Amino acid sequence: MDARTARDVSDLRERLGAARKVCVLTGAGMSAESGIPTFRDAQSGLWSKLDPMQLASEAGFRADPRLVWDWYAERREGVRRAQPNAGHEALAGYERRHPGRLTLVTQNVDDLHQRAGSRGVLRLHGDILLDRWLEHCPHQPSLTDTAGAIPGRPPKCPSCGNLVRPGVVWFGEMLPEGAMETAERAAFECDVMLVVGTSGAVWPAAGLAQVAREAGAHVAILNPQASAIDDQAHVCLRGTAAGVLPGVLKGV
Ligand code: APR
Repeated sequence: MDARTARDVSDLRERLGAARKVCVLTGAGMSAESGIPTFRDAQSGLWSKLDPMQLASEAGFRADPRLVWDWYAERREGVRRAQPNAGHEALAGYERRHPGRLTLVTQNVDDLHQRAGSRGVLRLHGDILLDRWLEHCPHQPSLTDTAGAIPGRPPKCPSCGNLVRPGVVWFGEMLPEGAMETAERAAFECDVMLVVGTSGAVWPAAGLAQVAREAGAHVAILNPQASAIDDQAHVCLRGTAAGVLPGVLKGV
């Protein structure tokens, strides 16, 4: 860590120690060191090899349900095999030491923050481990009754042909009810906003740093590369989630 980064880390530690309210926004980079691929990293990102519209949209799913279902099944296996990294653990430790101070907002659909011990994680883009029906079917039994019991890739309701789909937010879909409002309030009210591992390419999540900045919070971005929202940051720490977060949060 160079002298400038060390100074930035020490300043951020002081601010996090004194803050009344802290908001953290995480993206795929948060889970990269747990072995879960990001989306837009030049070489290793999922979107560098695959078409997001074909795989992460309702139209793509309807066009080829098996392809999309199998792709998510593979990603689910990867999430189940992955373990939370030191960055996830550091955030959970900070939250434990300061009950009620931290709002953790994530764009990630894995469960690594939760498995590290973070509580009340605000998921903007859903949960890859959850299933839901493609069509709204009020008369269908809830998926917990039938999940696993339905054959098929994707599983198809034997009585009405309704398809099961992953419980994630696809491109062009609404975020979970109220999630963005809660996240915006946390960004507006916080004294420090820490953005970890996001390219800032996808809105409305990408707008949270600006909400915090304009409301007077100190905004820090942790990312080994530049992101599309660096201009909203007072400081950009060039490093990784597992490599830098423990040092930023330890003992704070
Ligand atoms: N630590 C921190 N940041 C990292 C690390 C790491 N170890 N490795 C990579 N990064 C950074 C990359 O530099 C990049 O800026 O993480 C960012 C990942 O960006 P994306 O792949 O675009 O992921 P994200 O920003 O979360 O994407 C937002 O887009 O495809 C949709 O729904 C998907 O939630 C996702 C949304």
